[in-house]
Amino acid sequence: MSGQGIFITFEGGEGSGKTTQIDLAAEHLRRLGREVVVTHEPGGSPGADALRHILLSGKARELGEETEAVLFAAARADHVSQLIQPALRDGKDVLCDRFHDSTRVYQGLSDGVDGDLLTRLEEAALQGLYPDLTIILDIPAEDGLARAAARRKEGDADRFEAESVELHERRRQVFLDIARAEPGRCRVVDASQEVDDVSREIALLLDDVVNAAGSPDS
Ligand code: TYD
Repeated sequence: MSGQGIFITFEGGEGSGKTTQIDLAAEHLRRLGREVVVTHEPGGSPGADALRHILLSGKARELGEETEAVLFAAARADHVSQLIQPALRDGKDVLCDRFHDSTRVYQGLSDGVDGDLLTRLEEAALQGLYPDLTIILDIPAEDGLARAAARRKEGDADRFEAESVELHERRRQVFLDIARAEPGRCRVVDASQEVDDVSREIALLLDDVVNAAGSPDS
């Protein structure tokens, strides 16, 4: 385990319901008497939040895909050292909306980014802090995008949502590949189910990881 608290990341494509499910997961853990910090990437700490706008507006991409990958890693390094690691050391559980698997998927599918560079950036940003559990919310790209569009109502899609269904489906497959490659860390949950069914499935996964970790005070 990574520290006294438990570190859980939530991954998945657009419209997979991560935000709702993280809130429900936090409620579940708090009902078990645990202290919980909910955070997200890119961002989550002052330094990382400063980079978030540059990343999501597409300005980072104008500097090249490698620079964009470096900035995601820089934001993650700050988030890990300033927020995640201290919270875990304090015995708090950390639930994070996206983490290193998003870089593996999104930047990993960019033609312009070398795989070795991504591995080195991941190691530098995480400093050994890999999640205890990663929940991958899986939904067909078309259904997820339809949900994201309904949620957005009017206004522009951010640059990630504006991309093709085919690209989103490729990303979905890379998330599933990661889950197959790391079955000890990753669990895939069918996010096209009703919200309550998804959250019940996640609660069982949380119970398993909590039981495996023992009490944070012990
Ligand atoms: P955001 O608006 O935070 O929402 P959501 O998680 O609901 O999609 O969007 C974050 C976007 O940034 C998302 O499209 C994926 C992308 N991203 C990367 O490309 N690489 C990364 O390492 C991370 C954390 C996110």
